[in-house]
Amino acid sequence: MALGSHSRSQRTALSVGLSLLTNLLIAQPTLATNVFTCYANDFVDPSHTVGHYAANLAGAQDTIVAWANEMNSYGPWSVTDKPILAPSGNKHDYMSWAPYQWPDCSKAGNKTVLTPEQMWKTCPYVNRDGLVNPDRTTINDFQSFFNLSDAVLYNSLAFTFRNQSSSVYSQNVVKFIKGWFLDAATAMNPNLNYAQMNRGPNGQHGEYTGILDLRGFSKIASGILILRKHGSSDWTAEIDNQMVAWCNKYIDWLQTAPNALQAAAAKNNHGTFYVNQLMALKLIVNDTTGATTLGRGYFGGIYKGQIQSNGDQPLEASRTRPYHYRNFNIAGMITNARLLKHADPTSNDWNTTSNGATIQTAIDFLMTTKPSATHEKDVTAEIYPNVAAVGATYGDLKGKYVNFLNVSGFPYASDASFLWDQPLAGGNTASSNSESKPISEASPHSVAPPASTSAHQASGTVGAVRPSMQIWVMYGILGIFGWRLC
Ligand SMILES: *[C@@H]1O[C@H](CO)[C@@H](O)[C@H](O)[C@H]1NC(C)=O
Ligand SMILES: *[C@@H]1O[C@H](CO)[C@@H](O)[C@H](O)[C@H]1NC(C)=O
Ligand SMILES: *[C@@H]1O[C@H](CO)[C@@H](O)[C@H](O)[C@H]1NC(C)=O
Ligand SMILES: *[C@@H]1O[C@H](CO)[C@@H](O)[C@H](O)[C@H]1NC(C)=O
Ligand SMILES: *[C@@H]1O[C@H](CO)[C@@H](O)[C@H](O)[C@H]1NC(C)=O
Ligand SMILES: *[C@@H]1O[C@H](CO)[C@@H](O)[C@H](O)[C@H]1NC(C)=O
Repeated sequence: MALGSHSRSQRTALSVGLSLLTNLLIAQPTLATNVFTCYANDFVDPSHTVGHYAANLAGAQDTIVAWANEMNSYGPWSVTDKPILAPSGNKHDYMSWAPYQWPDCSKAGNKTVLTPEQMWKTCPYVNRDGLVNPDRTTINDFQSFFNLSDAVLYNSLAFTFRNQSSSVYSQNVVKFIKGWFLDAATAMNPNLNYAQMNRGPNGQHGEYTGILDLRGFSKIASGILILRKHGSSDWTAEIDNQMVAWCNKYIDWLQTAPNALQAAAAKNNHGTFYVNQLMALKLIVNDTTGATTLGRGYFGGIYKGQIQSNGDQPLEASRTRPYHYRNFNIAGMITNARLLKHADPTSNDWNTTSNGATIQTAIDFLMTTKPSATHEKDVTAEIYPNVAAVGATYGDLKGKYVNFLNVSGFPYASDASFLWDQPLAGGNTASSNSESKPISEASPHSVAPPASTSAHQASGTVGAVRPSMQIWVMYGILGIFGWRLC
């Protein structure tokens, strides 16, 4: 056949092929999705993952898939990636720098010729609460762990949107967990001896504050429990056993190391998040009794001193960034309540009081304050997931919480958290004529990445799905809020 004389069917095939190719190149989410947010912490009970999701959750589902895809583009992660060794000399040791510590080289003289390494060892470091030293980000272990924990959470959720025993999303979870915890070449040692490390002549050791760095374990526990619940064929018994063994060693460290015990004894957010982390680990190793004991210890213990009767949190209010720290601790309280509810379904700690107040009282108080009153920038969005959680849990008959979110301009019903902060008014009303939304190939909210993306994801070199112009504009608008709560 001569060139240029294609039959009709060949031409059709060619144009279908071309349009497929075009679709692959400019694959776009079907709805505007929220810009990625790293929540300070949360625990997603696997009971929120079902075979069919209600129609109003379509926006949240799309956002979750977009966030999974975005996180996948940064992974896999390993502590062995960092360019600097911990003082132990062991490249498998986790390390991060204390965020509020700044070098004072005035007494070390000669600061212009000090190399960074000399500065870290010879200059005394002083604390400036609330002021983050930007050099903290030259060592990425803490950011890597946050991204890992978000990747595990969102990939596990995205995996449940299809009724399959395996998908690129569950494969990603396994790949990321193996890379960080299990593979001999890249695994992290189960300790935080150099977390939020103190530098200077009296430093070179981690601080109790560094225990916070791994609070994302509650997101990782969510992901693992979800894969278990749905019988993912990728989450094999072998991987489960290896992960349980790793977590048991790390639990030993958290229950015995002096830094960890100091975090456990803290009465403020450090104590709250210590419980988040250890309860989550106990759920991973199936020690529900131990998790329950810890959670009850928190709500019967330091929680009782954390909220005043008017809803303020004195231990957080005294910090230099009170709006941030009040929200931060509320996120930890919510996570503890959710973890404990999972460990012991008969528990009801959302109703436990501290000086007559509950988590709801604390949010009600915070909703009347403004970050500008304490000159805090880029923290406005921190309250949104907390307000959504409180509205969903305590009920929102008068629409107080939803209105707060609406007036703030936060598209809460297309946020990831809307999937588990239920029931809360709102959501995708366009398709609300159908009772529930089974996710299928034909669904307008189909969650499968395009074939090419899947292939890349499976081999670990995925690029993020390219957002549409509409989404870029939305990113720009939402960027004003400075979303990234971690
Ligand atoms: C999921 O798949 C299983 C087996 O393939 C089937 O029995 C079940 O009905 C499906 N569930 C849904 C919600 O489609
Ligand atoms: C400054 O430090 C450099 C390198 O440590 C050293 O070679 C030099 O002699 C020092 N100069 C002074 C004036 O101390
Ligand atoms: C973590 O994710 C953020 C986006 O939220 C990204 O900017 C950053 O580069 C990622 N870092 C690592 C180490 O993955
Ligand atoms: C978890 O522990 C419970 C008892 O607390 C037990 O019944 C269950 O079989 C255990 N599950 C696994 C996966 O080990
Ligand atoms: C608080 O307790 C009351 C009475 O037992 C119950 O009806 C309500 O659901 C509880 N609220 C939460 C948020 O658990
Ligand atoms: C939120 O605001 C939008 C308009 O901006 C409105 O359509 C919607 O009904 C509001 N939702 C609730 C639950 O008040």
